[in-house]
Amino acid sequence: MSGRVVREPRSLLVTGGAGFVGSAFVRYLLGQADFRGTLVNLDLLTYAGNLENVAAVADDPRYKFVRGDIADGELVGRLVREHEVDTIVHFAAESHVDRSIVAPSAFIETNVVGTFRLLEVARAAKSVHFHHVSTDEVFGSLGPTGAFREDTPYRPNSPYSASKAASDHLVRAYAHTYALPITLSNCSNNYGPYQFPEKLIPLMIMNLVEDKPLPIYGDGLNVRDWLYVDDHAEAVWRIVRSGRAGETYNVGGEGERTNLEIVRLLIDCVAAETGKARSALESLVTFVRDRPGHDRRYAIDFSKIQQELAWSPRRDLASGLRETVRFYLDHRGWLERVRTGAYRDWLRENYEQR
Ligand SMILES: NC(=O)c1ccc[n+]([C@@H]2O[C@H](COP(=O)([O-])OP(=O)(O)OC[C@H]3O[C@@H](n4cnc5c(N)ncnc54)[C@H](O)[C@@H]3O)[C@@H](O)[C@H]2O)c1
Repeated sequence: MSGRVVREPRSLLVTGGAGFVGSAFVRYLLGQADFRGTLVNLDLLTYAGNLENVAAVADDPRYKFVRGDIADGELVGRLVREHEVDTIVHFAAESHVDRSIVAPSAFIETNVVGTFRLLEVARAAKSVHFHHVSTDEVFGSLGPTGAFREDTPYRPNSPYSASKAASDHLVRAYAHTYALPITLSNCSNNYGPYQFPEKLIPLMIMNLVEDKPLPIYGDGLNVRDWLYVDDHAEAVWRIVRSGRAGETYNVGGEGERTNLEIVRLLIDCVAAETGKARSALESLVTFVRDRPGHDRRYAIDFSKIQQELAWSPRRDLASGLRETVRFYLDHRGWLERVRTGAYRDWLRENYEQR
């Protein structure tokens, strides 16, 4: 590590900490015995937010959950003042590309306007470090070779990636114009526990377990780089603590695979774990009409975070996928509650009545 910067955040405001990646970050950080600060998790609990994802840390004295909207500047301002927040780590977003194609409005409200309101609070507070979590999708689509670098021009293609790109630009502009201390990360596709089962990997695992068709877009040859979500959480914490202010870091998994390859790897894992016949699972593969404007290939050059902050992914794809398949097999109740919507009842019974 460069040894250059070491921030010791004492009071974090984490947005979107009940979602897939944010909850992994919350569990990761509170799992660090030497973290002596406090963490307020601000989450609106949209369809993608689930307090079960953070149930393991709910009673940790360093942790507090607040249900609310990042676009509510008054609420965020109050939280920052009351908790003397020194660091905001911003995960909250609308995150599903397909939803953004059907109904883009919420993506603009949360990803663009919501980020703007948070930045305004950070600007008013003066001494808050703002870490913005973003995606490699802002860079657009690659041909068969090459990889996104931090200086690759932005070329977002979906309403989701355009809204994330807009939020990245706002964050940079606040650093440039108002000298707001910021860091930014652009990460490739994540997989792992507690991912909402509308996304490729949990959807495929669920369908494999239930012998249902495995819908694959187009020819199945779109390439994504896959990173285990806990590795992303570690990268974010490393950047928050030691990233140079004003800088962006690309985060990737060295896990480039076509969607079809991912599905075949999952078939192998599910067959090994359940004893189901591989050929029967393979016959479930079904090609469906491609997503409009579907990006062909993403790949990430993450040499900057490797060299400056000594971060590399800990899990390779094979072991990460095995762990992920085991998680979903062992958490059928979680999957069922999310799929049927019963997790919302849990929320009503356990949270809203308080
Ligand atoms: N999942 C990935 O593969 C991936 C990869 C790179 C970057 N990212 C980024 O990581 C972040 C989190 O992604 P994710 O996959 O965990 O998403 P997610 O959809 O699983 O979770 C989003 C969370 O944000 C909350 N939220 C939504 N709108 C809110 C609002 N207005 N106010 C407060 N909370 C709100 C939701 O309730 C949910 O808990 C996003 O910014 C996304 O762009 C995700």
